[in-house]
Amino acid sequence: MTSFPPVEITVYPFECDAFGHLNHAATLSLFERARWEALAQGPGMSLFHRNGVVPAVRKATVEYRAAAFPGDVLRVETTIVHRGTTSWTLRQTARKGEDGTAIATADIVFVCVDRAGRPVALPEEIGRVLGGPARVSAGTHLSRVALEGVELSVDVRNAPGGGAILFIHGFPLDHTLWRHQLAGLQRWTRIAPDLRGVGESSASEDGYAIARYADDLIRLLDSLDVERAVLCGLSMGGYIAFDLVGRYADRVKALILCDTRPQADNEAARRGRDDMAELARTRGVDAVGEEMLPRLLAAATMTDQPEVAQQFRDMCRRIPVAGMVGALKAMRDRGDSSGLLGSIRAPTLVVVGSEDRASPPDVARQMADAIPGARLAVIPGAGHLAPLEQPLATTRAFEDFLEQVAP
Ligand code: MLT
Repeated sequence: MTSFPPVEITVYPFECDAFGHLNHAATLSLFERARWEALAQGPGMSLFHRNGVVPAVRKATVEYRAAAFPGDVLRVETTIVHRGTTSWTLRQTARKGEDGTAIATADIVFVCVDRAGRPVALPEEIGRVLGGPARVSAGTHLSRVALEGVELSVDVRNAPGGGAILFIHGFPLDHTLWRHQLAGLQRWTRIAPDLRGVGESSASEDGYAIARYADDLIRLLDSLDVERAVLCGLSMGGYIAFDLVGRYADRVKALILCDTRPQADNEAARRGRDDMAELARTRGVDAVGEEMLPRLLAAATMTDQPEVAQQFRDMCRRIPVAGMVGALKAMRDRGDSSGLLGSIRAPTLVVVGSEDRASPPDVARQMADAIPGARLAVIPGAGHLAPLEQPLATTRAFEDFLEQVAP
């Protein structure tokens, strides 16, 4: 279990009772001072703030072992002794600096809450700092599913009795794009594959097309015995979702379209795809990632959440050149789905980052207007990768929508 750096705290006279001992209220606040100090010396004070959550104390038990007096210097050790999905327990022990006598031990249970005070799953970065079971790690639930002519690597998290959500990642990304939603939407069975040519899924040299990705996903749902699913696609994942809605409407329970657009590429965009493919072949997939990164993340994400840029690079690096070139070709050759929008009957949520430059909010608004009954959620502070950049707001938007779609 994780331990934070020990800190030293001096007992003040006003913290003591009529007998001169450190009193109960002061012990609690002394432990609190020690926690703040340990946070400042360890991962930094902004850990919770930058993840948009607050640690709320739900229970504190203190065991007193020996008296402490004004002027005593106490050394406080802080260790995480339990970590759950939304909560963790921290054990603090205060010892006299001079001889190590244990003065008091406190077990403090925290719950991770959003700014409205609602419990939420621990964001990945905080989970890493706290250590313990890696509940949000993307690898834990991975399996390989052999379909006709392709093997897909897929993260499946079952919620018995819950409906299914199929998460479809964008480019150049993989299923870990959805890491926060996979951890958070626990009332739903979550299915997040790597598309063919991505991550651990098999990568043929050619044969990539939006319809081919869509057919793979239908076979994947068949193999998992899922008749109907909510489709949740980001950007290229949205292009694939359009294809699925057009050809397999009866398999679609509802639709979440994130940071995507229905229009096909124009001539300049098509040439850009060929240039990117050439870059991947000559200088490798990392070069493509570096070229795309500044356009995909909001400026504030780049400066305040360097770990998100790293997650992007990690995803990009897991794509073989053949899969990357294939995806670029598939996007270049895709048709225009604008005409489909008016015929969509599935309940639809359109989600867009307020700072998305690749599929901007006005494109999302027009798309939502064209889909009967569709709702729009604009995620403040997010660029093109809203589920990673602003996970809490994005997951909350999904949840609010999913509550209307009975599992
Ligand atoms: C994506 O995120 O999937 C890409 O930005 C889509 C595209 O380049 O059209």
